[in-house]
Amino acid sequence: MPTSSPHPKIQADGVNVAFPVAGGTTFQAIEDLTASVESGEFVCLLGPSGCGKSTFLNLVAGYQTPTWGTLTMDGEPIKGPGRDRVMVFQDYSLFEWRTVLHNVTFGLEMAGIPRRERVETAREYLRLVGLASSEDKYPHALSGGMKQRVGIARALAIQPEVLLMDEPFGALDAQTRLVMQDEMLRIWEETRTTVLFVTHAVDEAIFLADRIFVLTASPGRLKAIVPVEMPRPRTRTSRDFVALYEHLEDLLRDEVMTAVRREAGEGADGGDAAAGDGVQPGPGSRRRRPVEEGAA
Ligand SMILES: Nc1ncnc2c1ncn2[C@@H]1O[C@H](COP(=O)(O)OP(=O)(O)OP(=O)(O)O)[C@@H](O)[C@H]1O
Ligand SMILES: [Mg+2]
Repeated sequence: MPTSSPHPKIQADGVNVAFPVAGGTTFQAIEDLTASVESGEFVCLLGPSGCGKSTFLNLVAGYQTPTWGTLTMDGEPIKGPGRDRVMVFQDYSLFEWRTVLHNVTFGLEMAGIPRRERVETAREYLRLVGLASSEDKYPHALSGGMKQRVGIARALAIQPEVLLMDEPFGALDAQTRLVMQDEMLRIWEETRTTVLFVTHAVDEAIFLADRIFVLTASPGRLKAIVPVEMPRPRTRTSRDFVALYEHLEDLLRDEVMTAVRREAGEGADGGDAAAGDGVQPGPGSRRRRPVEEGAA
């Protein structure tokens, strides 16, 4: 829910993540990431595979901590997981042995909410995602889109302040994905939860986001922050939509090529992009500002 805090909902300041790897070296996954997300904002993260998108969500979720730099929520350092942040994954992660209703009550149970209240709350969120009539079904009887609605209802039922979504529609077919994007916007407009949404699909990001953070190939740095100021609902065939699509594709093309070459074992072209295994940057190394672009 939006708050009146004077601080951004999420603020990353010079965030670096270096994972220890075999041989005593480190692998730099995120480099000098500075960005903020306002309360109630819908931000999409776009970037090539391996650029640190999931790692960034894990930092905000509190599952990991930055190696350097600071990460705050409402001005307070994020020290670990909390009920104010919740993650929705691509693979739904539902409990197969629980009904739809009891999948959604799960987080409320963990929070010690009394039975009657958690059932009422779960039903409210199942209505919100359009699954009121499926509460007694088990996950195996649901389509992918329905499973993901349960995942979203389960996440929202605990009334988080920040919803972290890691390619949530990545496993859905193209048509269902479009429906879920509409649903996601409707739900977000109703709840005004702050959303950080990872996607590989440029059109999905334009359709959903207030702003798009474009990350470079690994190590992930912020390449650009692209505002999307087209009114919603956005039409994929409109001139503005297509122009922004092309612009984002241009921004991503080099990064994707770098990532693909690196995965193929060819290394990166040029020292700047070559930060991989063994790189050990210090605080403030190669510090640079992302391009904060004008309104689209
Ligand atoms: N625990 C870990 N130890 C070592 N390296 C890791 C660890 N977790 C992630 N990495 C590496 O950090 C980089 C970023 O990983 P991350 O999962 O955040 O990428 P991503 O942008 O989410 O990629 P994708 O789009 O494929 O999901 C990758 O190269 C990954 O192999
Ligand atoms: Mg990922």
